Amino acid sequence: MRRKVIAGNWKMNMLPNEAMEYIETFSKLVKDTENEVILCVPYTDLFYALMGAQDTNIKIGAQNMHFEEKGAYTGEVSGKMLKAIGVEYVIIGHSERRQYFAETDETVNKKVKAAFANDLKPIVCVGETLEQREAGETEKIITSQTRLALEGLTDSQVKNVIIAYEPIWAIGTGKTATSDDANNSIKAIREEIRSIYGEEVSENIIIQYGGSVKSSNAKELFETSDIDGGLVGGASLVPDEFAKIVNYK
Ligand code: 13P
Repeated sequence: MRRKVIAGNWKMNMLPNEAMEYIETFSKLVKDTENEVILCVPYTDLFYALMGAQDTNIKIGAQNMHFEEKGAYTGEVSGKMLKAIGVEYVIIGHSERRQYFAETDETVNKKVKAAFANDLKPIVCVGETLEQREAGETEKIITSQTRLALEGLTDSQVKNVIIAYEPIWAIGTGKTATSDDANNSIKAIREEIRSIYGEEVSENIIIQYGGSVKSSNAKELFETSDIDGGLVGGASLVPDEFAKIVNYK
């Protein structure tokens, strides 16, 4: 049985003092969960979050990284730098980065490879726009994003990737995919992985759902056959609410 992995994506929110206060409250609320709990925080909070999460069951992730190790890339942060301070996870190819920062399937693939080269676990985001959904292209888009993101990885690396299926029209809009729809899309992603990497990899890879996950819909989503947890934006900013999502059962 696959474990459930529930990650918060704070996006560009929370100052260091707020992050510390949050983790102090939140860690008490989720200490007994069997689920894996991750907080993906802004770069400026990473060090404080890592300190605050010491001796808790909370893992810390970044929200992006560059694919090169070092060099003349003003404003960028490398996987090596994240690893050096103790970060474990990194979100790669979030739709906001694809939309506003010109990330492509190619840069996503380079970043996923660089994450593994630095012993970081990537959370790779895929998802269709509303236009693509209305044109009936959802499956084609998300399976192709998945295939291209993972190109050139070994089977054992793919098994350790987390995929987050986040339909773009459901992000921050209050519109959640129905649990059936989200589960079917995730099944299609799993089937794509099975066709390339085989049954063992596809049965073990964690595939999350993201897009307006709240405490009121988490249970229904997470109890489907193929949704292995969530990547949560807005609702992860409030410790009580995010703890309810983590403790959804
Ligand atoms: P919301 O939960 O705010 O819709 O955001 C989802 C998301 O983009 C998480 O990465």
